Amino acid sequence: MADPKLLTLSGSLRKGSYNRMLLALAAEAFGPATVTEGDLDLPLYNGDLEEAEGVPEKVQHLVQQIKDADAIVVGAPEYNKGITGVLKNALDWVSRVPGWPLKDRPTVVVSASAGRTGGETAQFMTLSCLTQHQARLIPGTAVLIAGAMNAFDEDGRLKDETSQKLLTKRMEKLRAEVV
Ligand SMILES: Cc1cc2nc3c(=O)[nH]c(=O)nc-3n(C[C@H](O)[C@H](O)[C@H](O)COP(=O)(O)O)c2cc1C
Repeated sequence: MADPKLLTLSGSLRKGSYNRMLLALAAEAFGPATVTEGDLDLPLYNGDLEEAEGVPEKVQHLVQQIKDADAIVVGAPEYNKGITGVLKNALDWVSRVPGWPLKDRPTVVVSASAGRTGGETAQFMTLSCLTQHQARLIPGTAVLIAGAMNAFDEDGRLKDETSQKLLTKRMEKLRAEVV
C-alpha cells in the first residue's frame, strides 16, 4: 500500500507557531506518510462574499486536501479560552461546501498554548465543531502542551518525555485507523 496521506491543519498562522511545531512532531510520530499542510490563511467568512463570488478557490483547495487525506491532525491553540478565529473561520468555510468534507475522516486534535491548561478549552471547542462536521474523532488521552514557550527545545522537540510519549501513542492510534 502507498504511504497514507496525512493533512495537518494549524489554528495559528505564524511562522514560529508552537502548534505547527507540535504538528511536525505529530507527523513524525505518525510514521511514513505523504504530509501536506493545509493553508488556513483564508478570507473571513462573509455570506455576501459567498453569494457574490462563491466559495473562494483557496477554500476549495483546502476542501480537496481534506477529501484526499487519509487522516487529519489539527493543531488548536487557545485564544481567550476559545478556538482561534483562524481555525473556526476555516471550519466555517469548509462547512459551506456540500457533502461535509470532514465526514468520517479520521482526525486527532492536539494543542499547545501558553497557559497552564495547554489549550484544553480550545481543544474541547474544536472537538465540538468537528463533531458538527461529523469527523471521525479518534479518542485518546488529550495532547495538551502547557507553557508552550518553554516546552520545546531549539530543535523543536518536546522537552517533556511524557508529552512526547502521549503524542506518539495518539498518532500510532490514528495510523492504525488508516493502514
Ligand atoms: C489573542 C490571544 C489570546 C490568547 N489567549 C490565551 C488563552 O486563553 N489561553 C492560553 O493558554 N494562551 C493564550 N494565548 C497565548 C497563546 O497560547 C500563545 O500565543 C501560543 O503561542 C499560540 O499558539 P502558536 O504558538 O501556535 O501561535 C493567547 C494569545 C493571543 C495572541
